[in-house]
Amino acid sequence: MGRVRAQGAKNAALPAFAASLLTDKPVLLHRIPAISDVTTIIAMITALGKRVDALGGGTFRIENGGRLKREAPYELVRCMRASFFVIGPLLARLGEAIIPLPGGCTIGSRPVDLHLKGLRVMGAEIEQRQGIIHATAERLQGRSIYLDYPSVGATEDLIMAATLAAGETRISNPAGEPEVLDLIAMLQKMGAQIELSDSEIRVAGVKELTGAEHEIIPDRIEAGTYLLAAGITGGAVEVEGTITNHLTALIAKLQEAGIELQIKDESITASNEERSQAVDIETMPYPGFSTDLQAPMAAFLALARGKSMIKETVFESRFAYIAELIRLGADIQTIGRTANITGVEHLNGTQVRAADIRAGAALILAGLAAEGETQIEDAGHIDRGYTDIVNKLTALGAQIERR
Ligand code: UD1
Repeated sequence: MGRVRAQGAKNAALPAFAASLLTDKPVLLHRIPAISDVTTIIAMITALGKRVDALGGGTFRIENGGRLKREAPYELVRCMRASFFVIGPLLARLGEAIIPLPGGCTIGSRPVDLHLKGLRVMGAEIEQRQGIIHATAERLQGRSIYLDYPSVGATEDLIMAATLAAGETRISNPAGEPEVLDLIAMLQKMGAQIELSDSEIRVAGVKELTGAEHEIIPDRIEAGTYLLAAGITGGAVEVEGTITNHLTALIAKLQEAGIELQIKDESITASNEERSQAVDIETMPYPGFSTDLQAPMAAFLALARGKSMIKETVFESRFAYIAELIRLGADIQTIGRTANITGVEHLNGTQVRAADIRAGAALILAGLAAEGETQIEDAGHIDRGYTDIVNKLTALGAQIERR
């Protein structure tokens, strides 16, 4: 059996760096994953006037490096959507933000209308010219905001903006992902006044925030990917340093598929000796099945016994990787946002291309199980979200190398 330690959560680390823009005081972050999206957000906040020092072991200190700037460089927003999330903190601190519209993974149009709508409700004037958002607000005002959809990024962005607004902001229908709660925990350490109820987040604005020390939560998506690696290869893997509660939906589906799981509070062991059974999944906001595990799950189901159905409800086009799985021999048909998978007995290695982080992870899983060699082009996408995946898998017994 192999063991692997979960990295810190990408989706908690990125907003944590953005949140450091809300204060002039030092912020210390622990358990930051060594992934290229973190490099991008560090470049972003450095360009905006912060100084970031890596202290080793996943710890970073963020201090003021000069005056805070209001304009985000296009090349950084272009390559990562999460860098757009600096708009809330900048507007709250400076009363002005100039941010190009984001790029990131090619998984649907991924608009930012909910971010902008919320900031407008808080009194921001927002103009859009030639793909650049120009937002101004003398001081943001606490207001009631209803999110049409519980967007993770919009919830985080608006909470950050609200921490320094005048009066109370109420966000109803917010996202409740563990990464959102982790950001709230960090902001509370910085002095933000935030209360949570079942359906609402209430933020009472304060004049200024202070520094904080914060260890971000483990990455449930990375952990899930390694559990699926055990499932697809018929091996046994213990993922250490997880929060089991964050993986409830995946655990239920793995058990339904016939995978043996040994579950402790901070570690999960998956082992799989027989061919797995087909299961149906539908992606949903947390605590539903994560859209980020949809592609790795599809790779796993491509080899399961029987017919599985995957319905993607969060993003409009997150099936681009399926054509690549088919090239490896999978039997999958897509109709709109539904993928019908008929499990095959073998996949055969060939050359495929990773279109985004999770597509890349799915192709690695398929490649581990496929007969012969699989070559993944554009594998750099995978480094956006997975620390040292080649070495971690090698330690688990996989034959994988980077060329
Ligand atoms: C975050 C995660 C990403 C995950 C996703 C859903 C980060 C850095 N990324 O992305 O890994 O897959 O949550 O769990 O945390 N939408 C709008 N308008 C908006 C914002 C979003 O229509 O203003 C739509 C999106 O197009 C998408 C859906 O809402 O269809 C969910 O998006 P959202 O929750 O915002 O995802 P992100 O925050 O971008």
